[in-house]
Amino acid sequence: MAKICLCLTGKTLARDLEVVEKYRKYVDVVELRVDYLEPDERFLIRRFPEMAGLPVILTIRRDIDGGQFVGGEGARISLLSKGLAFADVNPRRNFAYVDLEEDLNVPSLEEAARTFGTRIIRSYHNINGMDPDLTGHLRGLLREGDELAKIAVMPHSLEEVVQVFKAAQETTDVDKILLCMGEFGASTRILAELLGSQISYTMVTGEPDLPIAAPGQFDPRELTERYRFRDISAKTRIFGITGYPLKATASPAFFNTVFALENSDAVYIPVPADSIRSFLHLAEVIGMAGVSVTVPHKEAILPYLAKRSAEVESIGACNTIVSDPSGWIGSNTDAPGFSDSLLEFIGKKNFKGKRITIVGAGGAARAVAAEVYRLAGKALILNRNPIRARDLATPYRFLWGGLDTHGINLIEKYSDIIIQTTSVGMEPDITSDPLALYTFKGHEVVMDVIYKPEMTAFLKRAAEAGCRVQNGYDMLLRQARYQYGHFMGAEFPPQLMSRMKM
Ligand code: ATR
Repeated sequence: MAKICLCLTGKTLARDLEVVEKYRKYVDVVELRVDYLEPDERFLIRRFPEMAGLPVILTIRRDIDGGQFVGGEGARISLLSKGLAFADVNPRRNFAYVDLEEDLNVPSLEEAARTFGTRIIRSYHNINGMDPDLTGHLRGLLREGDELAKIAVMPHSLEEVVQVFKAAQETTDVDKILLCMGEFGASTRILAELLGSQISYTMVTGEPDLPIAAPGQFDPRELTERYRFRDISAKTRIFGITGYPLKATASPAFFNTVFALENSDAVYIPVPADSIRSFLHLAEVIGMAGVSVTVPHKEAILPYLAKRSAEVESIGACNTIVSDPSGWIGSNTDAPGFSDSLLEFIGKKNFKGKRITIVGAGGAARAVAAEVYRLAGKALILNRNPIRARDLATPYRFLWGGLDTHGINLIEKYSDIIIQTTSVGMEPDITSDPLALYTFKGHEVVMDVIYKPEMTAFLKRAAEAGCRVQNGYDMLLRQARYQYGHFMGAEFPPQLMSRMKM
């Protein structure tokens, strides 16, 4: 089973030991990054494995490989020898592994390691890009059968991550550690078991004195508790969310909590994707069962669907796909999630007699407009680009305008409810307000589909004017529960409803 390794990047061994104590229950192995230690501390590494009480990887990473070591090669080799010298017959007092880069040729170090059971990790790091021949390279790295091959690359697109999964599938017979660094690599870290990678590297988050050893690493607690890393096997059903940049999403917390509570052998992973085509490629290679699709892919996914629900047809946007022998089946749960949430908030069964302003004309606005129309409301659509507002409004015979004075003046007659559907005001851009030109009167019911922050600048202003306001969190929960229905082919367990009001 794949192991969780914690990278130790403290300046002193004492600090590293403190971290080991704090995270012991979440990790199987630790990596002592000697290159982060202060020079005096580096001479004391030999006793670290005994002090840590966990298997330890000895690593002294050079700056060219993404590490901190800037001394000469002689100094590095002499430090490595210090770590491996005076080996003990009790293996727990020795380093369990030593990381030696593929271009390091020091037979005496290897001999020292082998004699006392320290396993050699033969590594290659590309901190700037990919390896053009991953499969060949993985096979060529090992010099002896007892070694472990490690390749870490930095993909610049999701398509390159697909290549990594493919190389993993072609090298199931090679003992290896394989991972992608950076923003596209999350799937390789969570699904190490599926990749056949023996170790997933993690780091401590939220401790300012501990630098990040490699971009994209998870916190060990997150990997263990949220993603249930230790329970992931070849049989685990894989779900996830794709979008870009996919920074502020509550969906992994929602679905993984549900899966854990109901004991499903399933995991839900974030997959930032620069193109929906590459995402689908990855989803096929790793066998994903269902996916939440978010900004900016909700429309781009349409040509790839084998079947579409009626909502997807009418809205022209899809936020949920499920794998089927015929291909991907697309539906839209934003629409019912939105209308359920707003109707409950206003205590009505439909929007009959309501005059509503919709701000925005993108994917989210399409779902909102379709529901307002379906449920008998009348709307005004205002968008920065008025042509998009016109295109959305015309089939429903809604009014439209720009976010300019003329458009803002139209709100007066459409002010029972105002719904903000753009991403303007979302973290980290929390001071922006897409409707800054409008002055709330206080009678309007105001909804923002954003839920991070809880109160956008727009909602705050409305609340201060006396309006009843609702953010997008309840809508998110409701759409996620509908999504669960599509993923699992069963209704969301009612007994979990109250527990999922996170
Ligand atoms: P989504 O699926 O979240 O709706 P989208 O389809 O990219 O995403 O739509 C983004 C919406 O936010 C659009 O209405 C967009 O307005 P334009 O059509 O004029 O681009 C709106 N939007 C984005 N940035 C904006 C900004 N700075 N000010 C006003 N509106 C903005």
